[in-house]
Amino acid sequence: MARTPILAGNWKMHGTIAEAKDLASGLAARVGSRSDRGVVLAPPCTALATVREAVAGTRIVVAAQNMSWADKGAFTGEVSPVMLADLGVGHVILGHSERREIFGETDEVVRKKVEAALKHGFTSIVCVGETLAERDAGRTLEVVKRQVDAALNGLGNDAGSKIVVAYEPVWAIGTGRVATREQAQEVHGEIRGLLRDLGLPADAIAILYGGSVKPDNVDGLMAEPDIDGALVGGASLEVESFTRIVEYRA
Ligand code: PGA
Repeated sequence: MARTPILAGNWKMHGTIAEAKDLASGLAARVGSRSDRGVVLAPPCTALATVREAVAGTRIVVAAQNMSWADKGAFTGEVSPVMLADLGVGHVILGHSERREIFGETDEVVRKKVEAALKHGFTSIVCVGETLAERDAGRTLEVVKRQVDAALNGLGNDAGSKIVVAYEPVWAIGTGRVATREQAQEVHGEIRGLLRDLGLPADAIAILYGGSVKPDNVDGLMAEPDIDGALVGGASLEVESFTRIVEYRA
């Protein structure tokens, strides 16, 4: 498989600058020189500069958890791609289910952000996933396809190298209820087919699984052919557990 596995830690709204520095330095020492796996850390905005400094000289990449689709202007509370680039950040998580559910981000907003990210040369980790009600109603694939299509349709083949997809079933996020590897693989396979249908280089695009990934379930998930990595919340907040996840054995 040509795809380099990606293990991304989404720290969400956790940590002071001092805590972020400790965590990033600890991870830099443990997994900072791995070249066979992409390691991404997404600290809160306030700690981006510190974390970048802490991982300087390693292979670890720093990502923002969100960004505005606008370059600048009257958008109180927003952070623009220009500002992130100014910090040396070139990766961003977009359309996380918490952004969609709590802050009302629609498919259209996520699309605008993906376009802004591409315009500024960012790599986007685009999140999709169904709620429990949608899964129970048998609508998982329909929902995920709608989200992928809205975010990525018509971007053109060249965009492929700047896109990572994260499949995160909403019912598995922060609940301890991980999707089985078979459930995840099924959706990942569908997403890869859809990427191909959209004219994107599907075999080169990493599709990450997210939702209660832990040291004790990562190996099984990573053994599946279309699971190319993990987007990790809770278990990314400690050096030991995230190191074990980066060092998964499939
Ligand atoms: P979790 O979060 O690992 O804590 O379930 C995953 C995510 O929301 O990206």
